[in-house]
Parts: sequence; C-alpha cells; structure tokens
Amino acid sequence: MTKMTNDQNDQNDQITMSEEILSRIGQLEEKFGAMGQDMKSYLDGLLYADFLTYWDYIHLDTLLSLQNPRTPIPDERIFILYHQITELYFRLTLDAIAQLSDAPTQPSPELFKRQVGRINRYFQQLIQSFDIMIDGMDRDEFLRFRMSLLPASGFQSVQYRMIEIASTDLRQLVHPDKREQTAESSDLTLLSSVLYWRSGATELSSGKKTLTLRQFEEKYSEELLRFAQHYQACNLRQRYQNLPPEARQDPEIIQLLREHDLNANVRWGLSHFRSAVRYLDAKPKEIEATGGTNWQKYLPPRFQLVVFFPELWSAEELAEWGKFQ
Ligand code: HEM
Repeated sequence: MTKMTNDQNDQNDQITMSEEILSRIGQLEEKFGAMGQDMKSYLDGLLYADFLTYWDYIHLDTLLSLQNPRTPIPDERIFILYHQITELYFRLTLDAIAQLSDAPTQPSPELFKRQVGRINRYFQQLIQSFDIMIDGMDRDEFLRFRMSLLPASGFQSVQYRMIEIASTDLRQLVHPDKREQTAESSDLTLLSSVLYWRSGATELSSGKKTLTLRQFEEKYSEELLRFAQHYQACNLRQRYQNLPPEARQDPEIIQLLREHDLNANVRWGLSHFRSAVRYLDAKPKEIEATGGTNWQKYLPPRFQLVVFFPELWSAEELAEWGKFQ
C-alpha cells in the first residue's frame, strides 16, 4: 500500500516536473521566437557553456589588479583602496538616486523611502569607516607617499559632485558669497560658474586656482553642466517637492531626507576634515610657506553651508549648520 502510494507520488512528481519543464520550454520558444532566434541553437550553447564562477562574476582578478601604488611605501595601498571603496559607495548612491530621478513617472512615497533609506545606509558606512583614514595609516608614511601623488586629490572626485547635483537644485551649491547676486537667476551656466567648490583647492599664498582644480574643471565642467541640466527637474529635492501633500508631510520621509542632508554635507565632511587635520595640520602661515592650499578655510561644513533641503530645517538649525551632527 505504502509502496503503491510512493510509486504514484513518484509518477505524479515526474508528470509535474515534465509539465513545468515543458512550460519553461514553451516560454523560451516564445522569447527566442519573438527575437527571430532559433531556440535549439541556444539550448546547444547551454550544453557546452561553463558554469559561472564567483571570481569571474565579480571580476575578482581585475578588481585586485587596480591598486597600483606610486611608491614602495606600504600604507599607500590603504589610501588607494579606501578611495576606491568610497567611489563604489558613491556609485551605489548615484544608482539609488537614479532609480527615483529617472523613473518615467513621479515615484510613489514607498519607493522614495526605500531609495533614500539605501542612500543613508551607504553614507553611514562611509562615515563610520572614515577612521580607516584618520587612524589607519602611519602619519610619516602618509606624508611621504602623498607628495608623489600631487596634484591628484580626492577633490577631483566627479562622483562626489554628481551626488550633490543629483540631490538638490544647483543654486543650493552656489558659494555663500555669491548667493545674493545670483538669487534671481535660473541660468545653469551662470550658477555652475559660481559653485562653492570652485573656490576650493586654491593656493593659500596667491589665491590662485591650483592645478588640481584647473585639471578638474577642464575635464568635467561641461559634463557636470549637462548632468545639472538633466537633473534640474528630477533631482531628489524636486522629486520630494512633487510628492503628494500628505507624503511631503510624512515624518518618515522628512527624517530620511534630513539624514541624507546631514550625512552628505556635515557628517562625512567633518570625518574627512578630521583626516586632513590629522595628517596635514599646520599653522596657516606654515601652509602658505609650503605652497599649500586653503583647505582649513574651505573644508569645514560651517563655511561651505551646503544644504540640500533647506525647507526641512528651522531657521535656528540653518543658523547653526555644520556645528551639529
Ligand atoms: C588621509 C586622508 C585624506 C586627506 C588628508 C585628505 C585631504 C583633502 C584636502 C586637503 C582637501 C581639500 C582640497 C585641497 O586643498 O587640495 C580634500 C578634498 C576632498 N577630498 Fe580628501 N583627503 C583624504 C581622504 C579622502 C578620501 C578617502 C576621499 C574619498 C573619495 C576624499 C575625497 C575628497 C573630496 C570629495 C574632496 C572635496 C571636498 C569638498 O569639496 O568639500 N578625500 N581632501
């Protein structure tokens, strides 16, 4: 009796399996037929294809071949790797914003929360891990290998600028001293010529742009302008402002956006500034003497005053921007 039941089950299983497989084959035939392709040839291909491996899938060998120190100083690899890790998180952030911004219609409040939540997790990782820079390298080694890398600088990270542009309206990124005179303008070319970072990486002694800044502007100014044109109507701030009124008041959404504002414009900036202080600190006069840049006056968030979503902060909070985290 038991045996008969088992046999029947086996038979049923086989029938179910075959039906499932037949149905899959039917679907495949439809898929390849729609493209004018011969399904049988593809099945032959499957017979001979190798199984995918982890190392091929994530291109492990390529990934590990991308760290090429310029000096034999061991800690330089940490510096390269951590910059690369940061750029990958920046890439994830831009992908998350694009899923909201490039959607053909205004995203739902649920999608909005999900994507901003992702962005916040990426930045939290970056902020928490910045100690790898602050405490994780030998200061003397750093000062030696850093000289071999000039004029390259993280300042030239184009993805960092893209995150800013994709997060808010371009006018929010205008240098504090230029805000009043450009307040009425919506000309993106004009606004992009007075962005706050155009006064960074500047020689402390002469006030001239360093090669670091000039190289960056030459390579990326036009691309960033096109990027700003693309994001003008669909950046994160615009997507937020176009949510239905009740979603705009949703405390969860407001909190998620405030987190993004603080993470990108204050917390990351302060962690990063701490690393500059740890390795480069010197009196402004000494920096001037060594041909250094204006980083002490440029990097602190309280001087840059970049706020992506000013409507989500009180006047008191805005007045204290960069002083609380
Ligand atoms: C020991 C570690 C680091 C030091 C000492 C350092 C130093 C500096 C300095 C001095 C500047 C100002 C530009 C200048 O005056 O040349 C700067 C800007 C910048 N660095 Fe770093 N940096 C470090 C690590 C990183 C890392 C890991 C990244 C990640 C990509 C990064 C990204 C940036 C960005 C995006 C800017 C421009 C910031 C802004 O415009 O507000 N830095 N860095």
